[in-house]
Amino acid sequence: MSGKERFIIPHRGTINKEDRQRLKGHRSAILWFTGLSGSGKSTLAHAVEERLFERGIHTYVLDGDNIRTGLNKDLGFSKEDREENIRRIGEVAKLFVDAGIIVLSAFISPYRKDREFVRNLVEDGEFIEIYVKCPLEVCEARDVKGLYKKAREGLIKNFTGIDDPYEEPLNPEIIVETDKEPLEESVGKIINYLVDRGYINSF
Ligand code: ADX
Repeated sequence: MSGKERFIIPHRGTINKEDRQRLKGHRSAILWFTGLSGSGKSTLAHAVEERLFERGIHTYVLDGDNIRTGLNKDLGFSKEDREENIRRIGEVAKLFVDAGIIVLSAFISPYRKDREFVRNLVEDGEFIEIYVKCPLEVCEARDVKGLYKKAREGLIKNFTGIDDPYEEPLNPEIIVETDKEPLEESVGKIINYLVDRGYINSF
């Protein structure tokens, strides 16, 4: 026995996702922000969360600050580690959806395959991919954390956009262009998407 054989018989609770959504008065879903480092994923996710919170919607943001310092602090930036990073985040996000919450996830998530994996973890309509589009030159000029400079100097290897790939989404639900539109416009696009498709009520 490898110790990995599973004898796990699920216990079916009597309260399910739909019950929790009814209690909260809105649907639950994953808002998956993907884009280069410095493109504005976290800023946007938190700004959207504020707007949802004001409307009485239950939310939670997953980002590097609360995931890469805790659950995923054993992971680095190799292809395998990034894949495992996204797999775990996907599983956590799925639990949040089951809990009836709109979960906002802000990670580079550079590989299409890994993002598709998360999309396939949840039901149709529960994964909303938001491409936070911003040219590398602009992200690099912003260099909020000073990491692009270090990557150019060769002090950080496999930095996304410099010497590691970023695979653009082919068919994202929403695209925001943070070098072209003001933050409030990007936030508005996302809120409108949620209202138009009945995730949340309009005022
Ligand atoms: S992901 O590729 O696995 O999705 P994640 O979003 O969790 O990445 O972390 C990216 C953040 O880690 C970047 O914004 C940057 O601050 C930091 N970082 C450190 N090393 C790297 C690297 N080699 N490539 C990209 N980001 C890095």
